[in-house]
Amino acid sequence: MNSYKNILSQALSPLLGLPSEEVAAMFVTPPDSSMGDIGLPCFPLAKKLQQSPAQIASKLSTQLELPEGFSKISTTGPYLNFTIDRQKMFNRFLAGVRSTAKPFGASEIGKGQTVVMDYSHPNIAKPLAIHHVRSTIIGAALCRLYKFLGYTVEGVNHLGDWGTNFGQLMVSYKRYEAAQPDQEVNITRLLEMYIQFHKDAGNEEGLDDQAREWFVKLESGDPEAVRLWELFREESLNAFKKLYRRFGIEFEHYIGESFFNDKMEATLERIAAKGISEISEGALVVKFEDDKMPPCLLRKSDGSTLYATRDLAAAEYRYERWHFAKCLYVVANQQELHFRQVFGVLEKMGYDWAKNCEHIKFGMLAFGPDVFPTEEEDDTAFGRRTTGSTRRGHIVFLEEVLDRARDKARDLVVDNAREDEVLQHADELAEMIGVGAIVFNELAQRRVKDVLFTWDKALNLHGDSGPYLQYTHARLSSVLRKYGKELPEEIDYSTLGTEAEAEVAKAVAAFPEIIERAVRENEPSVVSDYLLALCSEFNRFFTDKVTHRIISDEEALTLARVGLVDCVRTVLATGLGLLGIQAPERM
Ligand code: ARG
Repeated sequence: MNSYKNILSQALSPLLGLPSEEVAAMFVTPPDSSMGDIGLPCFPLAKKLQQSPAQIASKLSTQLELPEGFSKISTTGPYLNFTIDRQKMFNRFLAGVRSTAKPFGASEIGKGQTVVMDYSHPNIAKPLAIHHVRSTIIGAALCRLYKFLGYTVEGVNHLGDWGTNFGQLMVSYKRYEAAQPDQEVNITRLLEMYIQFHKDAGNEEGLDDQAREWFVKLESGDPEAVRLWELFREESLNAFKKLYRRFGIEFEHYIGESFFNDKMEATLERIAAKGISEISEGALVVKFEDDKMPPCLLRKSDGSTLYATRDLAAAEYRYERWHFAKCLYVVANQQELHFRQVFGVLEKMGYDWAKNCEHIKFGMLAFGPDVFPTEEEDDTAFGRRTTGSTRRGHIVFLEEVLDRARDKARDLVVDNAREDEVLQHADELAEMIGVGAIVFNELAQRRVKDVLFTWDKALNLHGDSGPYLQYTHARLSSVLRKYGKELPEEIDYSTLGTEAEAEVAKAVAAFPEIIERAVRENEPSVVSDYLLALCSEFNRFFTDKVTHRIISDEEALTLARVGLVDCVRTVLATGLGLLGIQAPERM
């Protein structure tokens, strides 16, 4: 579509006396392609040209010579509409889509620019909360999208790996170790220890003091405390990594909060040197001119530093190390104020890169009643675990949800299987579909909105779901199998011509623009929405068997239609891959 818009904007630019980029930004898509494929609303021109929008549209339609590649110029009231030449459009739209040399939609626009993506960031030895899962899925999708556009992406897992809770764990561990010396420490044990501490601390005096003492030991580098801290961190990481693998995620860096222990002092000195910090009620703070913004607390009166202090040191460190073009923090809506404060301090420190730091907010995930009973639940029910209660951890929980998704997907596969091949790969497919269902559900709406998870929606083969897209991919692949011959690299699509085919081709051609928009808005749902629309466009074409027999005696037409199918399949597979969803060949 891009080049068509370019042709039009260049043709219109001298007539309107506007730069062609401005004209290009005005284009819209008419509601019905019988009106045209590209529309120019003339309202914004009325003042400048001293005429009514309808007059402008009609005048332009007579003044303008038919630009290359177009077959008709018409008007609908204030709109000037352009119809693309059906004969020529297919080859133009579909050229390069199946290219094996360069994935369609990929580009180099980000070349030489680094994006730091701060995502997932669970807290060590604490239950992995559900917002960490959202951050993981959204952040990973954004990483892939940026990479696809040529950016260098540094994915950072800013682990919460420092805090007084480690002292609590150490107390619990020491008692636990005495009771069961030979047992290994894994994430489940860590959670149990955490829970145990809080149970015991309620009944026993002095446990909190012991925990504080252990934390002081840790801070002063006591070897036993450090050994335990490393053990807990390692074991938690192993559990997280197991889940990351199921999502196909790898981090470039694990740089947790503890990494900044010895870097905060210098940061605080730089802040002080700028004269922007002050002591208020014994604490070190930076105040803001905007009185709606509470001061950013950097050091408590007892000398301890804070979450924000670490984030300031981390931001400086990241800029120093990567000279990022953008530093994106994929963190829940709730931390909005925290990031405004952190970015505010960076700005006051005079860093011009502060404007390139952005909080990529998202809403909460809630579970529908088909996932968790909402009633009073017993210990085995999931409900309690979504509230962040520590009785059972979310690590177990996420793994369980994934396992359940996989098991349910397996049933789905087996029930719908029409080929032996599918049954033979049922386990593999079940994992693909189960994970795909969860990932798509997270990415299907604009991220700032809260998401409701129900099995019914997430695994609905006929609804707006991951499995539906995967199923469409399998259907497309099956058409190619049925065709049975190798498709040539270059295909002549000029025998195509129906409106349904034109719509499919237009949808395919829109893919690069969609990716750019998703990146511009840091919004993976732009891609999810697009893939659903693409598939529904394709299914319209596909189900209309009367007009569209894909494989027929007409060789050229068959090749063009199979080629079109392969274009859709390619774009669908690429789009799914960018979201973090696998595209099965059969299902
Ligand atoms: N671990 C933090 C939490 O669970 C999130 C960290 C987000 N990233 C950051 N640089 N502050 O709330």
